[in-house]
Amino acid sequence: MIVNRTILLKSILGLIILSIIRRNEHDIANVYDTFSNLMRIATGGRLLNFGYWTKEITNPLQAQIQLTKLFGIYGSFDTAQTILDVGSGFSIPAMHWIHSYSDVKIYCLNISLKQLKSANSEIGKNQSHEDVTGNPYLAADIGDRIFHINSTSTSMPFRNESVDRIAAFESAQHFKPLAQFIHESKRILKYSGQLILAMPVIANKSDLLPFSNTYNLGILAVTWASEHYSVRMLESLLLEDDFELSNIDYIGENIYGPLAEFYIQNRDKLRSEIIKEYPKFLEIILYKSMVKMKIESDKNFIEYVLIRATKR
Ligand SMILES: C[S@@+](CC[C@H](N)C(=O)[O-])C[C@H]1O[C@@H](n2cnc3c(N)ncnc32)[C@H](O)[C@@H]1O
Repeated sequence: MIVNRTILLKSILGLIILSIIRRNEHDIANVYDTFSNLMRIATGGRLLNFGYWTKEITNPLQAQIQLTKLFGIYGSFDTAQTILDVGSGFSIPAMHWIHSYSDVKIYCLNISLKQLKSANSEIGKNQSHEDVTGNPYLAADIGDRIFHINSTSTSMPFRNESVDRIAAFESAQHFKPLAQFIHESKRILKYSGQLILAMPVIANKSDLLPFSNTYNLGILAVTWASEHYSVRMLESLLLEDDFELSNIDYIGENIYGPLAEFYIQNRDKLRSEIIKEYPKFLEIILYKSMVKMKIESDKNFIEYVLIRATKR
């Protein structure tokens, strides 16, 4: 038992360090596979995004559903027939979108086979889910409208000009190199198709190289793993591939502060659940990272953007 716990401690520490320093694709997939349960404990669901908080939102799961809904509206999913969701998590966003947009088919692409398998078995169970307004619905035809693909964002097995939307819903910060993903998106999108991004970014004024950003973020790199781009860097990558930048919305104030506040206020309860499965030090790191996230967001050092870019 003690040996098992030591091994767990070592492997979690190793993962955290690797995800911060090395950050290759497989480290990122491992981080999600190891910590997605932590997210489930903290949020009460299997969505893996930060969530969008407004006055009426009282918990992280509602906020995540709200961000999922906002993303679909932002991406005009009502006028799309095919969506490629890159970095699709447990396909929960896709399940919400197919319910809200009755004509759409969604291809969920993820580097993590574990997440895809789990999503597939959920769909296989054909069980009821909650829709974007929180009402339960029966997922009868999900299997004909959601498809799972185990691949990486930088080499996607899709024909040229074959999809209406490419969604990277809080996932593009992990794609390496991001320019290659944008290039692939340009190839796969139909003419006038749109690339929709929801992404944590750093403020333009700290336009440093990704590595030095990670260094400066310190403990924040734990809740904010992966590359840290500024909007200026994203814009220039999109323009290099001749995308038209149709919209950029800054929504950071509805993201980081309220989430951190929720964690701080409910810490005792959350900690007691987390330490049933994870070592105590991990919860302490998580808490400190949450506090730091709020401070950096209040200083406008970190932001969160929605970007719509159109292929021309
Ligand atoms: C923050 S999660 C967001 C998941 C989902 N959009 C949601 O809101 O629940 C990021 C996702 O990107 C996936 N991912 C990370 N790197 C990837 C890559 N290079 N190619 C494809 N998927 C990747 C992870 O496995 C994870 O599912």
